[in-house]
Parts: sequence; C-alpha cells; structure tokens
Amino acid sequence: MAQPQPGDWPPARPEVENLHGYSAPLEGRRGLLRLDFNENTVGPSPKVVEAIRNIPAEHYAIYPEYDGLREAFGRSLGGISPAQIGLFNGADAAIHAICQAYGSRGEVMLTTSPTFGYYSPCARMQGMVINAIPHEGKALAFPLQAMRRALTQLNPKLLLLCNPNNPTGTRIEPQLILELAAAAPSTLVVVDELYEAFTGDSVLPLLQAKSDGDPFSHYRNLVVLRSLSKTAGIAGLRVGIAAGSEPVVDRISRVTGPYDINSFGVSAAFAALEDQDHIDAYVAEVLAAKAWLVEQLLSAGIRHQGDGGNYLLIWPRSGAANCEAELRSAGILVRSMAGKALIDGALRVSIGTGEQMQHFWQAYCHCDGID
Ligand SMILES: Cc1ncc(COP(=O)(O)O)c(C=O)c1O
Repeated sequence: MAQPQPGDWPPARPEVENLHGYSAPLEGRRGLLRLDFNENTVGPSPKVVEAIRNIPAEHYAIYPEYDGLREAFGRSLGGISPAQIGLFNGADAAIHAICQAYGSRGEVMLTTSPTFGYYSPCARMQGMVINAIPHEGKALAFPLQAMRRALTQLNPKLLLLCNPNNPTGTRIEPQLILELAAAAPSTLVVVDELYEAFTGDSVLPLLQAKSDGDPFSHYRNLVVLRSLSKTAGIAGLRVGIAAGSEPVVDRISRVTGPYDINSFGVSAAFAALEDQDHIDAYVAEVLAAKAWLVEQLLSAGIRHQGDGGNYLLIWPRSGAANCEAELRSAGILVRSMAGKALIDGALRVSIGTGEQMQHFWQAYCHCDGID
C-alpha cells in the first residue's frame, strides 16, 4: 500500500507538526540491571504489593476515587493543605499540565542546560520559546548570575528549575530559589524536586518556616513537583504531585482529566506514603552505594560528576558508546548523554544498592580497561 503523504490527513497544530516528541529507549529493559532511568532498582515496600493484591476485582469496574490522597501527600510533605496539592499521572503529567495551563505561543520558558529532557517538548508544543542557560564550568554549577539577569530581561512565563538537576546532579540552595521567585512575581517558578530525598534540599521547609499557616502566602508563583517514581519504587504506577498556592494548583488541575491516576496508583500511593521507613532505608542504601562508587572512580582517576541525586555522570576513557554497548551485553543498562550540551561523552549511571553497584563497577572496569 502507498505510504500516506502530507496532505492526506488533517494537519495537527503547527507546533505539533514541528515537534520532536520526547523519546526514551524504554523497551526490553525487564530482567536487566536498569541503571538508565534513575528508578528505584529494588521495587516498592511489601505493603504496596499487598495493597494492590487486596484490590477486589469489582473495583476495577469503578472509576478511581481520590478521597484522602491529597491529605496523605500533604502530611508527608510536612503539612500542606489538600487544596494546595494537585494529583498527576507522574510528575511528567504535571509538567505537561503546567505548560498547557500557562504557556502561550511566543512566551519564554526559562531553564538550564543540560536538564531534564521533558521540559522542552512540553513548552514547545505550546509554541513557547525556550531559553536554556548553560551550567557553568567543569563542575557544571548552577548559572545564578545569568539566571538573575535572564529573569529580569526576558520576563519569562515559566522558570523550570530541577534541584538536584538531572543529569548533572547540580544542587541549588533552596533559599536562592526563593530569592529568584520573589524577584519575578509574574513568572511561575516550577521547582522539580524529584530527587530531593537524596539531598534534603527543598524549598518546602523554608516556606513552612516563614508562613502563618499558608506556606505559599508569600510565594504564590512557586510550584513544587514530587513523585513516587524514584524512591518509593512505583514508577510504573505513575503518581506525582504539584504543590503550590491554591489558585495555581487549580489552574494546573483544570487541564487534566478527572481520572488520570488509576486505581492501582491510588492504592499504591496510600501504602507507599504510609511506609516512609522503607523509602528512608532505600535512600540510605543508595547514598552509601554512591559514596562507594565515587571512591572507586576517584582512585581509578575517572572523570565523574553529580553531587545530588541517585545518579552520576561518568566519562569513560574508552568512549561512551563503546562502554554503553559493552555494559548492555553484560546485562547492565546505562544512559549515554551523547549529543547533550556540555556532557557529551558521559554516561549517566543510576545508583542502586551496594551489591548492584559492585556488579556495575566490575563490568565498568572491564569495558574501561581498569585492573
Ligand atoms: C527531573 C525529573 N522530573 C520529572 C520526572 C518524571 O517523573 P515521573 O515518573 O513522576 O513522571 C523525571 C523522571 O525521570 C525526572 O528525572
């Protein structure tokens, strides 16, 4: 049959016709050691598994109910009111909704480079103009002065800050984020705190300390993203939140469907939030494994980077593509940063348990010629 030609179907919006969607190599990963997407590498709390098993089949026939879930998230965040929490199908869906609710054609989305790859397509599909300020120096530091200047000169509609930044691990002092937000009241400042558990850097305790009961009373232009993908081990069940002032959360929630989180995600989220000890133990294990791996890299003289987060950038001497392929044949997945500004030639390696990282290091030494 002849291939359809442009003109044979109704064109989408021009922004969509010109869009390169976010693409990630997501297939064929089961059964391998997955150090490529910064997921939890061991799975959720047994209480989550039990909660899902206990969902009666008749409940599959009923649309999901969310009663109490905002409250549970609010408690886990140290006391945020339910109306200040929006529920989303993963933080990805929150980012998409924020761009849909706030971004118009020609307006600026300000961020850093390199950063999380889904911000740009979400802004582009709205026709927004992206201004990504490069991270600075060999340490890939947060470009604070340039960011301050851009905020005043460009008057962006959105500022997306990832703290710690994926993939560079760059940490931003939460107080600096509040200062940026205060200096730009007409910009919606989105703080993506997906990896906050690995640093403890969050704007929320600062907001709570300053507040008279409403953490966002002085920062109505601030939104914080969290999710249960990276620490709680339910990336596949897709639960994330956006916390912010009530009117902003309301606007973001207006552009999402009424049942976007499914019933499995809801039950899993309740159980995961109730088992904080499981999450804390996993985070502690990852941090110990990361410290161990950094020691190995230092003593082998391998360039690496990544203060915050459950991941490290590593520059193999034998070349990233070669090393990625060799690791894959040893059953270990990592993510090549080929083509990414400033970090071309690096692999992003997610950190799992101590045992997993020892296994990784053995295979890495083999591919990079380390005795
Ligand atoms: C910085 C950052 N934000 C958001 C996401 C999306 O997370 P979720 O699984 O909650 O959609 C990711 C996932 O990789 C991420 O790294």
